[in-house]
Amino acid sequence: MEEERILDGAETAEESSSDLEQALRPASLKEYIGQDELKHNLNVFIQAARSRNEVLDHVLLYGPPGLGKTTLAMIIANEMKGNLVTVSGPALQKSGDLAAVLSTLEAGDVLFIDEIHRLPRQIEEILYPAMEDFYLDIIVGKEGASAHSLRLALPPFTLVGATTRAGDLSAPLRDRFGIILPLQYYARQDLERIVSRTAGILDVEMDEDAVSEVALRSRGTPRIANRLLRRIRDFAQVYNDGLITRQVAKDALNRLNVDELGLDTTDRRFLEGIIFRFKGGPVGLEALASSIGEDTATLSDMYEPYLLQIGLINRTPRGRVATSKAYEHLGVLPEELSGKGLPD
Ligand code: ADE
Repeated sequence: MEEERILDGAETAEESSSDLEQALRPASLKEYIGQDELKHNLNVFIQAARSRNEVLDHVLLYGPPGLGKTTLAMIIANEMKGNLVTVSGPALQKSGDLAAVLSTLEAGDVLFIDEIHRLPRQIEEILYPAMEDFYLDIIVGKEGASAHSLRLALPPFTLVGATTRAGDLSAPLRDRFGIILPLQYYARQDLERIVSRTAGILDVEMDEDAVSEVALRSRGTPRIANRLLRRIRDFAQVYNDGLITRQVAKDALNRLNVDELGLDTTDRRFLEGIIFRFKGGPVGLEALASSIGEDTATLSDMYEPYLLQIGLINRTPRGRVATSKAYEHLGVLPEELSGKGLPD
């Protein structure tokens, strides 16, 4: 039976999947666009495990948010014909929390732990024998003489872990994943295919030029492309009888404060913070975050990777620096900076 069970705290409020989001997710590797190398290898591992009648080895997916880690976990469960059980690392606080989840698993199930880098260390340790030899040691009885441990055999299952920070995973946990797959930002052509596919599912009419405009401004990220497309559809409905032309897309994106490189207000505050408050850097991420009133983890997980990728900032041993491309993009001349504060 293929079904999905989502346990408490499975996703953050911001990411909670609406029915619409769910409908946009590809259900098989064949439907999944982009990440060609990852897809090819994963397909081999799935076919091989299936033909040996084994469960797939444990999989670690890592990369920036919005690139499809959750979607791939669902696809793995579908392709392996197992149930998907989803939990989030920070929701597992006590050893009993993990034991409760593991004891619901059936043979061939896929246990998806999102944000696995936020799993408390003592929970990780329970996971090791579960991953390696499919058993669970539970301590029963009160502390002291009556306490003893009980060994519980688990059915063979596949753990799929997802993280934006592979470096934060402890080495013993990382080493227990047989399959480690990095997700990359999507190429423009792949994003164009994703936008066209989504437009088809949403039944919106869209010019080819408009598709390429949305792809160009989506920061290499399908989740952003799909979100922007839904908002542009709103503008098109109100102003243009539902038809999305390049001009409608451009006007809507400008209204949404998404610029030609796909940067939003927070990206620009990130860059302006380095340039105006720290004279172009170097600056540590924490100092920068507090100066612009943002959370450090949000900047490091959601904003910094793309700014690095497109060459607007560099990382040096002493902190982040803005590149000449950043000055150019914001229309600032380095020599104009002396004595200037942050613009209003
Ligand atoms: N929707 C979001 N991401 C996708 C992908 N990689 N392929 C197809 N559709 C998607």
